[in-house]
Amino acid sequence: MEHFSTGAAPWWHSAVVYQIYPRSFADSNGDGIGDLRGIIAHLDYLRELGVDVVWLSPVYRSPMVDNGYDIADYQDVDPVFGTLADLDELIAGLHARGMKLVMDLVVNHTSDQHPWFQESRDPSSPKRDWYVWRPARPGMEPGTPGAEPTNWACFFGGGCWQYDEASREYYLHLFASSQPDLNWENPEVRAAVYEMMRWWVDRGVDGFRMDVINLISKTHPLTDGYVAPGDEYSYEIGKVVDGPRMREFLQEMHREVGLSGLFTVGEMLMVSVENARDYTDAGAGMLNMVFAFDHMMLDQEPGQLMWNYKPLHLPDLKRTLAQWQYGLADRGWNSLFLENHDYPRSVSRFGDDSPEHRVASAKTLATVLHLLKGTPYVYQGQELGMTNAGFTSIEQYDDIESQQMYRHAIEAGATQQQALALLAVRSRDNARTPMQWNAGEHAGFTTGTPWLRVNPNHVDINAEAAIADPGSVYHHYRRLIALRHESEAVREGRFDLLLPDDDRLFAYTRTLGQQRLLVVANLSGDPTKLPAEELPDLAGATVVLATHEPTAPVLQPWESRVYALAP
Ligand code: NOJ
Repeated sequence: MEHFSTGAAPWWHSAVVYQIYPRSFADSNGDGIGDLRGIIAHLDYLRELGVDVVWLSPVYRSPMVDNGYDIADYQDVDPVFGTLADLDELIAGLHARGMKLVMDLVVNHTSDQHPWFQESRDPSSPKRDWYVWRPARPGMEPGTPGAEPTNWACFFGGGCWQYDEASREYYLHLFASSQPDLNWENPEVRAAVYEMMRWWVDRGVDGFRMDVINLISKTHPLTDGYVAPGDEYSYEIGKVVDGPRMREFLQEMHREVGLSGLFTVGEMLMVSVENARDYTDAGAGMLNMVFAFDHMMLDQEPGQLMWNYKPLHLPDLKRTLAQWQYGLADRGWNSLFLENHDYPRSVSRFGDDSPEHRVASAKTLATVLHLLKGTPYVYQGQELGMTNAGFTSIEQYDDIESQQMYRHAIEAGATQQQALALLAVRSRDNARTPMQWNAGEHAGFTTGTPWLRVNPNHVDINAEAAIADPGSVYHHYRRLIALRHESEAVREGRFDLLLPDDDRLFAYTRTLGQQRLLVVANLSGDPTKLPAEELPDLAGATVVLATHEPTAPVLQPWESRVYALAP
């Protein structure tokens, strides 16, 4: 299998990853929910786009409280998605086309329906210690208000301890109460997880995307955090991430599963650049890369879990991305993303999804992301410039986090209208509406009733139309992906930020020996002149890729160009 790698660089330095959220990708059997056979039917679409790796969000057996991020059986496929035989066929189909499959690994927690947790409910069971059970706060009556072992909020809002009447103890859930946290301090838990991972590797999967992996090592003992005035719980979540045994656990997993040569990306909430550098150091035997979220937090008030919104200031985005580029330049490796199933659509969030600017802004966001150093991720539909859902009532939302955040906002005094306005910009369901394949009924996603409303703009924004239009967002993505495969400067070149304080232009260079690329992008709706005196000399430069017919020195609204500079 060719992977375009040169010299000593690992194969995944040249890879582009495509994320599939299976529920919303393609439905083969008309039940309104995407499935594995739906994905199998679109493998040529992925090959044509040019991606190298597919990251599949969870398809394991699950009660689907959190759409599969609550797993009840790690070694089976949920019937709603198909069978293990379908999954084998998917792996074979991807491999036959030169692509790889990365599974989602959700091992900070299980579903409360998992047999391990069912056994753990019995205090005398050997599995009791597989989860994080604690008695009530000393001196307090179990089950009464305030008796929870600590004052922590869960990531979906509300408290993180669930009281169990039968044993008069509490279990920890950093997400929904139906997602109890596993106790990674227990070596039996770790051994069981590694055995399960080896089973998948033996089945042919090529790696893992590890869900909230920097939560597995908890600080001990768990102690109270700061509660802001007016809040019921502590949102000082920095306390629960990156616990003291993170490096040990990741190295043990790497060794015990045999992860060397496989694709690994750890989702890490609130991870620091320094820790990420350690975790992704090529010699350290932990992970290839991590997902860090600093750049995804810039349009909300800092340090708050509860949903809020403030406008993004472009220099903050550039500074944050640059900080990660510089921080992992010589040791470690970045993952590059603006979208996934947990965030709104990037064209609606960072670009301009009006009919006038949607195409150009989606392309330019792609340009500035894909020319950075690291491994780019394309979330299904991003390559079409799919937009936010435009839901206007709470009934249209399905997501548990959105439902909980809505409830907490109302409880905290927001009006329905205010809470819905927040959901409209923040909800994960914005990115979970069905994939828009064509202009037909339900966008060609299903012949049944879709589980989440299809965006009515599918009549204009869909894969069939995009493939037929050489000027589409889709074809821009194809060119960017091809450029990464062709150009060593894109893969390995040094990054240098230019014009850090400019609030419209995003400009940087990538340098590898004599090769030098210049990226200039207008991230605004106004024509903007390039400040020649502050940029490298363009004499003799050639345009490698552009969103518009380049007419220097003014960039049109949302225009971007990539130049190869003369040596
Ligand atoms: C992160 C996943 O991406 C998200 O969808 C999920 O709700 C939480 N982890 C809990 O598993």
